[in-house]
Amino acid sequence: MGLTDGQAGKWGRKMRNRIYFFTGTGNSLWVAKEIASKTPDCDIVAIRKDMDMTVPAGLERLGFVVPTYAWAQPLMVADFFRTAVFPKQGRTYVFAVATSGGLAFNAVPQAKALLSEKGVSLNYGASLTMYRNSVLSYKMGQDAAKLAAQSAKRAAPVIDDIVNKRDKRIGNLNKFLLRLHVDFMKDIPETGSGYQVSGDCVSCGLCAAVCPAKNITMKDGKPEFQRRCERCVACIQHCPKRAIDYKGETQNRGRYAHPQIITGELAKFYE
Ligand SMILES: Cc1cc2nc3c(=O)[nH]c(=O)nc-3n(C[C@H](O)[C@H](O)[C@H](O)COP(=O)(O)O)c2cc1C
Ligand code: SF4
Ligand code: SF4
Repeated sequence: MGLTDGQAGKWGRKMRNRIYFFTGTGNSLWVAKEIASKTPDCDIVAIRKDMDMTVPAGLERLGFVVPTYAWAQPLMVADFFRTAVFPKQGRTYVFAVATSGGLAFNAVPQAKALLSEKGVSLNYGASLTMYRNSVLSYKMGQDAAKLAAQSAKRAAPVIDDIVNKRDKRIGNLNKFLLRLHVDFMKDIPETGSGYQVSGDCVSCGLCAAVCPAKNITMKDGKPEFQRRCERCVACIQHCPKRAIDYKGETQNRGRYAHPQIITGELAKFYE
C-alpha cells in the first residue's frame, strides 16, 4: 500500500493510484487506508489548506473518501473539486466514498456534479454508515468498537468493487436538500469563535496539528482559533485532556475518534 501524502514513492517514482481523503475523527482515513491496503501502488493524500492542487495525470485509480456534512460535501472538499487542476481523465477509474452517520443523501451526487464540471466522470460512488461524530451537535452515545466492526463489514463489498474497478450508477442531486446544506454551511467558518480552552490544556499542540484548515495557532502555549474553521471536530475530539469545549455545551457529550486511527498518525498527513 501506500504512502502518507507523497507525490512520489520511496524512490521518487509516481504512484499509479491515488486516494484523497478529508477527516476529522479518522473514519474516512480508515476507509482510505483499507482501500489502499488492497490496491498495489497507492498513495493517500489529505485534503487540507495549502495543499498541492494538481491531480497527477495517468492514474489507474483516483479516489475521494470524505465525510458527509449536512447531507453533502464538506466545504474544503467541495472547494477542492472546484479549484483543483484535473488532467484529462483518459482511462482513470474515478470513485467517491462518503462516510456518514447514516444520512449521506447528496454527498456522492454532489461529488459527481462538481467533478463533472471539471470534465471528470465518476465511475463509482458509495456511502458508508459509520460513527456519527458531530459532538458540537449531539452526544457521542454510540459504541465506538461496535460501530468500527459494523462499518468494516459494510466497507468490505465497497472496497472489493473499487479494487476490481466496478461501475455503479450515481443518483442526481436533491435540490431541496442542497439548499438546506448551503444554508447550514454558510456559518461554518465562524465555528472557531465558539471554542473555549480550559486550564486543563497542557500545551501539547495536538489540536493545531490535526486541523486540516490551519485554523489553530499556538500562542504562549495555548491554542487560538481563527475564523476559517471547517467544523471537522478534530481539535475537540482529539484533545487528550478534553480541554476544548464548544459554547459551554460539549463537556458532557463524550468524545470519539476511530479506534484504529492514532492521532499522531493523522497529524503526519498535515506536516
Ligand atoms: C459538521 C458535520 C456535519 C455532519 N453532517 C452529517 C449529515 O448530514 N449526515 C450524516 O449522516 N452524518 C453527518 N455527520 C457525521 C459524519 O459524516 C460521520 O460521522 C463521518 O463518518 C465522520 O468522518 P471522519 O471521521 O472522517 O471525520 C456530520 C459530521 C459533522 C462534523
Ligand atoms: S490538544 Fe488540548 S491539551 Fe493539547 S494544546 Fe490543544 S487544547 Fe491544549
Ligand atoms: S478548528 Fe477544529 S473543527 Fe475547525 S477545522 Fe480546525 S480542527 Fe476542525
